[in-house]
Parts: sequence; structure tokens; C-alpha cells
Amino acid sequence: MGIKNRLENGAQEEQHTGNTSVAHWRKRLLEEINLDDLARLDMAQRRARLEKVVGHILTREGPVLSTRERSILIRRIVDEALGLGVLEPLLADPNVTEIMVNGPDHVYIERSGRLSRIDLGFASEAQLYQTIDRIVAQVNRRVDESSPMVDARLPTGERVNVIVPPLSLDGPVLTIRRFPRAFRMDELVSLNALDEPTALLLGALVRARMNIVITGGTGTGKTTFLNALSGFVSAQERIITIEDSAELQLQQEHVIKLESRPPNIEGEGAITIRDLVRNALRMRPDRVIVGEVRGPETLDMLQAMNTGHDGSMVTVHANSAEDSIYRLETLASMSEVKIPYEAIRDQINNAVDAIVFLDRGADGSRRVAEVAVISSGRRESIRMTTITRFEPEPIGLDRVVRGRFVHQPLPRDLVTRLMLAGEAVPGTFSVSDEEVR
Ligand SMILES: Nc1ncnc2c1ncn2[C@@H]1O[C@H](COP(=O)(O)OP(=O)(O)OP(=O)(O)O)[C@@H](O)[C@H]1O
Ligand SMILES: [Mg+2]
Repeated sequence: MGIKNRLENGAQEEQHTGNTSVAHWRKRLLEEINLDDLARLDMAQRRARLEKVVGHILTREGPVLSTRERSILIRRIVDEALGLGVLEPLLADPNVTEIMVNGPDHVYIERSGRLSRIDLGFASEAQLYQTIDRIVAQVNRRVDESSPMVDARLPTGERVNVIVPPLSLDGPVLTIRRFPRAFRMDELVSLNALDEPTALLLGALVRARMNIVITGGTGTGKTTFLNALSGFVSAQERIITIEDSAELQLQQEHVIKLESRPPNIEGEGAITIRDLVRNALRMRPDRVIVGEVRGPETLDMLQAMNTGHDGSMVTVHANSAEDSIYRLETLASMSEVKIPYEAIRDQINNAVDAIVFLDRGADGSRRVAEVAVISSGRRESIRMTTITRFEPEPIGLDRVVRGRFVHQPLPRDLVTRLMLAGEAVPGTFSVSDEEVR
């Protein structure tokens, strides 16, 4: 069945059954069944088993329905539950953070930070294509030779990337990123992703409206950390978040979430992060939080930070705290406004107050590897002062990363700014004698 037919069919049936109730019963079904048993059954047996279980659940808890309505509802719920075939049990496992399908026979997962191949596969390439069609149809896209790369999302929010031949040489490749769990800062502390004094200090920096850049490689936990950090923002403030695909889950009440839009099939209608940053500045924000800067919006963001929209937070992909400065420079120079290099440098120097660098240990654990503050002033060359650094111990036979967080004195100027904002400095940090600014 073509995607269009499928969508139309779905729409017709929704009128009978209601989409939200399908989602509810699908959830109940996944709670009730034993996923390991299910993984051992073939497709036909699986469907029969699920239909039986849904039947029981509906009899027990469901509304009174005509026979016809009931069978439509059962079919819809089972379709939904089987929708992603072999992927469903993986998606139902909360410890799986990433699912990677490299052609029908090779499925890898990341669980607790470690990558492993699992003993599951799609019956055929056609079945894998069917699953892919189902996923991308939800964002009204299609995958074929003429558009062989698509970003999509599952209804539950998971980010999905699909790339198919001829671009991928070994069949269709599907990568699903589990919707990141919203960790609070105290949870990250108990996971040893950072230590308590550093968490307290970062809280003070956020409340004192310093601009903070979170950096690290792919999947090091930047978005997760940004989310936790934003927990320090007062509930009185108006926060605008801007992302490519909304992942942040801020707990405050007064939050406006903006999401960019990719171009349609004709290549038109794109709304970029940059458009949204510019628009956000006209919306009287107290804080602008950008999920990730990776293009010319960097310049707008730096200008905003320098012109009264302080207290902003962004993430940028880089391989060290220092590298993130160069990366911001490069990204800001991608703007069509040609600004001399020194001026961009000066903007960064003035805009960025602190950098949090995240890294992954050899055992897959994600943590704060460094916190640095910018201690140079206007028209000076950029000077960074490390204030917390994770020092790992030599790795033992169990391959578990251990180590300790080491603290360095805070620049006096930073301490003054914190005090003026009514924030205390955690006792663990001493104050540097060095005079800055
Ligand atoms: N400190 C942590 N402890 C355990 N799991 C974590 C931690 N930080 C992040 N994670 C998990 O790691 C995964 C990746 O996190 P996240 O999406 O925040 O990374 P990212 O750096 O923003 O990735 P990307 O580069 O793709 O934007 C998520 O599943 C998240 O729940
Ligand atoms: Mg991210």
C-alpha cells in the first residue's frame, strides 16, 4: 500500500476509534505483554498473540463497542504495536539509548553507554523498507532514490535518521536516538557526571545571568546537561527555547518552545534556527536557550548575548573547551555579514562567560571533563581559566573509569560578579589573586 493510501486509511479509521485512545491501548498492551517471549515469535504468531492480549485488555478496561468498532480498534492497536516490527521491544526497553540498523541483518544498540550487536533482524530488506516508510510517513516525507536521506521522528519523540542506497552502500540504514530522559542536576551529581560543588557553582552562574556554552562531541550528553542546567533558571522568567528537533523538557511554567522547519520536498519553506533566534529577540525573552548552534545563527546569538539578552545558554559541538571557542569563531564567520575576525573574537570574549566541556569515558560514562571561565576582557586575546577538571585514574581490569574532580581558584572578577548578584561561592573554590579585567 502506498504512503498516501495508508495515511488516508489511517485518517478514516481515526474517526471511528480516536487516535489518542489507540496510543493509550498500545501503551497498555506493551505493559501487559512479555517482550522477550514476543521477540521469539514470528510475525504471524506475534500478531495473533497481540490481538488476543488486546482483546482481553479491552474486555476488562475498554469502552462498550460494536463488534465492528472493536475489531477496527484491535487492528489499529496491534498495527501500532507491531509498527516498527523488531524495533518495538528495543524501544520498550528504557536502558536502550540508541538503535542502529545497518541493513536488514545487522542491528546494534547502545545500552548503558555500550554498543553491542543484537540477535535480531528484519525478515528481508523489503520489511525494513516497510518499517522505514511507516516512520517517515509520519512526517509526510518519503524515502527513495530521489530523496535518500530523511530526518524524522517517532510519535514518542525519538529522533530518526534514514539513509538508503545509492548513498549507503550496504542497504538502508536507520538510526534511532532515544528521546533523552530529563535528568535533574542532582541526578547527574549522583551519577558522578559532576561533583556537587561544581553543580552549585554552575547554579550560581545561571542565576547570576552568565552566558554559558556547553560543548562536547556527538552524544556526550550536551542536550541533557543543558536541560539540567536550565533547571536553575527562576520560574519568574520568560524562557524561549530554540531547537532543530525539540528535545529540551524544561520544568518551568513560562516556556515558549520553538522548533525549526526543514524544507519541504520542493526545497522550500525552511525556517532556520537563525530565523527563530531573530524572531525570539522580538518576543521579550528573559532567556534564550538554543539547543545547538551549528551555523550562521551563532553570530546572532553572540550579538544577543552582548546586547542585554544575557543569561543565555547554547550547546556547540567541539572536542575541548578551548576548541569550542574556535568553533564559535568559525560558525559566526559563516554569516553573510562580513565581520573582521578580530571583531568576532571580541564578541565571543565579551559574550561567553563559562564553558562546560562534556566527554565520554572509555566505559561509555558521560561526564563533565572541564569547566572553564573566560577571564579576559574586551580587546584582549581570549584567556580561559579552568575551574573544575576531571582527573581520571589509570583504567583497571574492570574497564570502569574512576577519578576525581579537581578545583582551581576562581578569577576574582567572577567572584565579584557573583557577589553583586547575591550568589554565594561554594567553599571548595578559592579565589585567585590574579587581577583581571
Ligand atoms: N550523565 C549521563 N548519564 C547517563 N546517561 C546520560 C548522561 N548524559 C546523557 N545521557 C544519555 O546519553 C544520550 C545522549 O545524550 P544527549 O542527547 O544529551 O547528547 P548530545 O551530546 O546532545 O547528543 P548530540 O550530539 O546528538 O546532540 C541520551 O540517551 C541521554 O539520556
Ligand atoms: Mg544534542
